[in-house]
Amino acid sequence: MAEMARLDDNSLHAVCSDPPYGLVEFTAEEMNKLRSGRGGVWRIPPSMDGCERRPLPRFSVLTPEQKQSIENYFHQWGTVLLPKLRPGGHVLLAGNPMLLMYVQAALIEAGFENRSTIMRVYHGFRGGDRPKNAEKEFPEVCVQPRSNYEPWMLFRKPISEKTVAENLRRWETGGLRMLAGGKPLPDVIQSFKTPENERAIADHPSLKPQHLLRILVRSLLPMGRGMVLDPFMGSGSTLAAAQAVGYASMGIELDADYFKLAQGAVSKFAALYPVAKGAFLDDETAAGREVVREDQSLMWDESNAEAESAPKRTAVLGLGSG
Ligand SMILES: C[S@@+](CC[C@H](N)C(=O)[O-])C[C@H]1O[C@@H](n2cnc3c(N)ncnc32)[C@H](O)[C@@H]1O
Repeated sequence: MAEMARLDDNSLHAVCSDPPYGLVEFTAEEMNKLRSGRGGVWRIPPSMDGCERRPLPRFSVLTPEQKQSIENYFHQWGTVLLPKLRPGGHVLLAGNPMLLMYVQAALIEAGFENRSTIMRVYHGFRGGDRPKNAEKEFPEVCVQPRSNYEPWMLFRKPISEKTVAENLRRWETGGLRMLAGGKPLPDVIQSFKTPENERAIADHPSLKPQHLLRILVRSLLPMGRGMVLDPFMGSGSTLAAAQAVGYASMGIELDADYFKLAQGAVSKFAALYPVAKGAFLDDETAAGREVVREDQSLMWDESNAEAESAPKRTAVLGLGSG
């Protein structure tokens, strides 16, 4: 927040980020527990097919006080962010079905409009478990539905002009950029887990896939230009997506190790799939442009590439305080 507070007013066109949902999972204490593999908010989902699963933060253990602190935090965060965004600037935040209402309430209270929720549909590992230590006693009971989507919350700073058109003329913000062929961005996007070739670049526990980020980031700048901020940058995957699409971006990261990771990873992520600039959804690109292999990793067939021309801009990194 201190880094965000230093930015010029009206200097950002959009924000795209994957915040620490429960705020506690990336504290030094919880990171130590994750790195030592013992206790805390991180858990390893049960192995289903002999494959080791990656740790997931367990939000069901958050107390009412911790949930209130999420709301308080995002209220303060939104209050700091609001003047930095141009009127009509969008904010897109990865969420969690159990916690998104706290973030939404906080940002609405801070002055943002709640515009939509974009569902990333993929095969998840959250929920679906039988009651702990009583799995055999209650074989037909699951405590929660198995989660197969990730909500991305879309907010907008209210426009300052009378119409979106006038706002676009003055600030270049207020709407969303359409996909190729004049197709509006849908609020449901078919996705899949982050492929291994991307995990090999950056071993961050919450690494988001390039295919999704490029579609989302691209949509946030209606005129195809402007500055995108990721204030919880992690491995820099959002900045890389922005770079691949041809947008300027900057990031803030609290953890010094992840910051270093991002410095090395951004250009490597951005260089992947050179024809993929977020203008097509997977299903529309599958024929000839993209192959989703059985292991769900990605290959791009560049021979059929219909590359969009996009200016190259530089990604800028900033280090958060603390
Ligand atoms: C969910 S992860 C984002 C990972 C990212 N989506 C990626 O693909 O690499 C959230 C990140 O926010 C960082 N973080 C936590 N609190 C922060 C704060 N107050 N300011 C900046 N970064 C913070 C964490 O260290 C973590 O790397």
